[in-house]
Amino acid sequence: MSLTNFPGGGAPSTGTSLTKVTMPALAEMKRQGSVISALTAYDYATSRLVDEAGIDVILVGDSLAMVVLGHENTLAVTVDEMLHHTRAVRRAVRRALVVADMPFGSYHGTVAEGVANAVRFIKEAGAEAVKIEGPRVELVRALTAAEIPVVGHLGLTPQSVHKMGGYRVQARTEETVKQLRADAQALAEAGVGSLVLEGVPREVAATITAELAIPTIGIGAGPDCDGQILVLHDMLSLTFAPPAKFVRRYGDAGTLIRTAVEHYRDDVERRAFPLDEESYHLPKPAQVALDAKPRAAKVHALRKI
Ligand code: KIV
Repeated sequence: MSLTNFPGGGAPSTGTSLTKVTMPALAEMKRQGSVISALTAYDYATSRLVDEAGIDVILVGDSLAMVVLGHENTLAVTVDEMLHHTRAVRRAVRRALVVADMPFGSYHGTVAEGVANAVRFIKEAGAEAVKIEGPRVELVRALTAAEIPVVGHLGLTPQSVHKMGGYRVQARTEETVKQLRADAQALAEAGVGSLVLEGVPREVAATITAELAIPTIGIGAGPDCDGQILVLHDMLSLTFAPPAKFVRRYGDAGTLIRTAVEHYRDDVERRAFPLDEESYHLPKPAQVALDAKPRAAKVHALRKI
């Protein structure tokens, strides 16, 4: 049990404006030349921290299959698992736009199935937009007609890992660049509110960003996109493989957690935790009546953290 995790408990810790970020607000940010910050998050605590830090977009990415659930790729995660995490994120977030990733298989059949699954993310989990990978123009049109804001995702689309033959930078030839530009244009015309560009050369992302009225959000796509997104666990060093070239480590949560847990284990084994002052006590007369024999009090310095 934790007594510190009441939803909505406590004021946000930063002075960041609480004006809600919406999909139209992202387009306005592009018009104004403001850069969009985005991160993935998958649970209440980290989403709350990310939101309070003033990040504009929180994506409940299907990358959770890998960084939270330990799968080898993103393909195994289910709609129910994604809904479960999206609900947790939704409870934490007040300001950021909450986008739910549609998992592999949930929109790869008929358009009607795709719309029905997207409706679940909005209705059952409180997502404010869904993200889908690939140039699925017909589906984007249908989702837009169903009042569901959509984020597109082109370039290196991890759900196509088997078709791509691995995770490789995309759009490196004249022909594939032409195709990517056409796909981006088609998605924008079909109604996506913004477009994630992943694993494409900087020059290609810059060209597409200049061509579209909607904002692009890059990951491994260089600095010229309208916004940037990273996987939270990557930027916090909470992963167990060498990071990709585009990942910048902003913290070392892995070492922080490992060290704290080792100190805790050590304290427990030395009976240095909990101390008397970290214990509850009976009133004095009740202690006498009980005649309990606590271990002799040891004096332990509290470890500095
Ligand atoms: O699932 C995810 O984390 C993503 C981002 C990499 C954009 O799709």
